[in-house]
Amino acid sequence: MAQYEIGSRRLRSNRQVRELTNEVLLSHRQFIQPLFVSELIENKTPAESLAGVCLHTATSIPDQIDRDLGNGIDKFLLFPIVKKQESEKISFDFVCDVLKKVKDAYGNQVWLATDVCLCAYTTHGHCGLLNEDRSAIANDRTVKLLARYAGLLADAGADCIAPSDKMDGTVGAIRSQLNDLGFFDTTILSYSAKFTSSFYGPFRDVCDSRPDDSIVLQGRESYQLSGASPSSAIRSVLSDVEQGADMIMVKPAMTYLDIIRTVSAKIDLPVVAYHVSGEYQAIELLAQNGLLGRKEGHLEAWTAMKRSGADVIISYAARNARNWIG
Ligand code: PBG
Repeated sequence: MAQYEIGSRRLRSNRQVRELTNEVLLSHRQFIQPLFVSELIENKTPAESLAGVCLHTATSIPDQIDRDLGNGIDKFLLFPIVKKQESEKISFDFVCDVLKKVKDAYGNQVWLATDVCLCAYTTHGHCGLLNEDRSAIANDRTVKLLARYAGLLADAGADCIAPSDKMDGTVGAIRSQLNDLGFFDTTILSYSAKFTSSFYGPFRDVCDSRPDDSIVLQGRESYQLSGASPSSAIRSVLSDVEQGADMIMVKPAMTYLDIIRTVSAKIDLPVVAYHVSGEYQAIELLAQNGLLGRKEGHLEAWTAMKRSGADVIISYAARNARNWIG
């Protein structure tokens, strides 16, 4: 008797009926592939703490893009790794030159977002400039500099500006800078619901952007959100929507699926889930040790993000999405 009840195994009994009744469908078209481009290396180098990911040079990046286009991936999030500088004299030339080159070569074949933050540029590794006694972030000076940076990126051809600094007022300042310069079609993908997390570990290793604890201000808790305060994420999202964000990110993904659900229900903008470096690498390490299937592990995580309400997924394994989804 029991096997014929509603909710029984009937709709799971063969592949076809399972396919017909699955409600969450993934498409490689809604994936963004991060790309690291480094000024510090001569040749393309494997990123030791992110399995299967490489750090690229300005010269090696086209080959990677060609291969990614061949796999149906044409949306990228660019992370520059540069010679460390501090204070107002930060130069953004390296990433702007790379953007220009890629855009000259590929035009609208590729969609390029660029992470906008100072942690790759500061010697102390914080996401903003510090005040004089190095005890706190200088919020407004940071925001001004990031807005100038965003303008330079848009001018170099960026399709999307993705501020990840978590200062106050960044999105509004970037929006007015873009408007002032006439870049009305450049989108802003804000890392609005970005939490303090240990799962950024591999990324910080790759980018050498771990905050230095020899200065008074430690960690990133004074700007990134607390996982114990979901309402702070909602306030941050609503404020960024008000300031002119076009897309909203929740990050990390797996430990914040509830936030993805709440944000997607609350706002009418696309929600982007970032499966961050530690979450990615956890699956890679389990797979390397024969404890799960690489493909199955990533697909399960991606399905969870979609099911929770994410429209777009950022994943270091995005370039496998078309093959894996099938
Ligand atoms: C820069 C930035 C970080 C990540 C994306 N942009 C690191 C951080 O905030 O410490 C993390 C990405 C990842 O872990 O995959 N602020």
